[in-house]
Amino acid sequence: MAERKVLVCGAGFMGHGIGQVMAAAGHRVALYEPEIARAEAGRARIGANLERAVGKGKITEQDREQQLARVTVTSSLPDAAQKAELIIEAVFEDEQVKRELFAQAAAHATEGAVLASNTSSISITRLASSLPGEWRPNFVGMHFFSPVPVMPLIELVRGAETYDATEAYVREVAAELGKQVIVSRDRPGFIVNRTLMPFLAEAMRAYEEELATPEDIDTGARVGLNHPMGPLELADFIGLDVCLDIMQVLHAGFGAPHFAPPPILRQLVDAGHLGQKTGRGFYAYPREK
Ligand code: CAA
Repeated sequence: MAERKVLVCGAGFMGHGIGQVMAAAGHRVALYEPEIARAEAGRARIGANLERAVGKGKITEQDREQQLARVTVTSSLPDAAQKAELIIEAVFEDEQVKRELFAQAAAHATEGAVLASNTSSISITRLASSLPGEWRPNFVGMHFFSPVPVMPLIELVRGAETYDATEAYVREVAAELGKQVIVSRDRPGFIVNRTLMPFLAEAMRAYEEELATPEDIDTGARVGLNHPMGPLELADFIGLDVCLDIMQVLHAGFGAPHFAPPPILRQLVDAGHLGQKTGRGFYAYPREK
């Protein structure tokens, strides 16, 4: 397998995971953040994950060293974009931030590079419009699921101008990562979030009207449907701010009431209770078993 040079923009929850699976597949990864300390923190998270995997006997110490050695950090987008054959954006769900990032990346990228967004709901065609025309065929949605090293799915989203060759390239990379691909047309929330978010929203509305305890709402899905997490636990895991952003995109796009973010979700986000990452959401963390 050829070694690829991959630039991952954003080294947070999703970005560091994408970097990790790319390095595990034998590719060279640059993790970009405008503040180098944040890129270093993303690399440190990869190091900690690999350390855990060594502890569990999943990989050897030599694997850990080799994989981590393939990950570098950078705060210079022009320089890193120039060297990459694949540029994946994994910053937070703010369309303007993504547009600016892609415009800058395309200004320095090498001809033929593929530009991919890990957006969970924003239109790929609209994001592509931040690029000069010649880059739009090389632009595609490449949506990973968290935790990225564990979830074996990539949702591939084609914009109006995405080339077949770009889709083929993403399929090839996904196969190298051991991920299964599903393909969505470019509609708000694509496949997974369009079907997942109304479920989470309905669980939140049930919680709000005190239909049942949060534990029983979640146990219903875990035990009755064999889901690994109940909907409130899953919302806390994804991040309540992320859920709110996605529901807003879905609601704006389709207008249907079942996509509307429930008031309790807005209230928790306004209060800064964003789920596991802030220690509080529908539950307090760490949770008692
Ligand atoms: N990073 C890397 N690996 C992780 C991890 C993380 N953050 N969290 C868990 N893991 C690994 C563990 O190391 C463990 O690996 P091994 O089997 O190799 O030992 C494995 O996952 C299972 O972990 P645990 O035993 O600690 O815990 P668990 O059995 O409860 O599983 C879970 C944890 C994998 C997160 C499981 O609860 C699950 O699958 N939850 C649902 C996750 C989900 O639905 N993700 C999609 C969210 S939607 C999304 O991402 C898209 C979007 O746009 C919002």
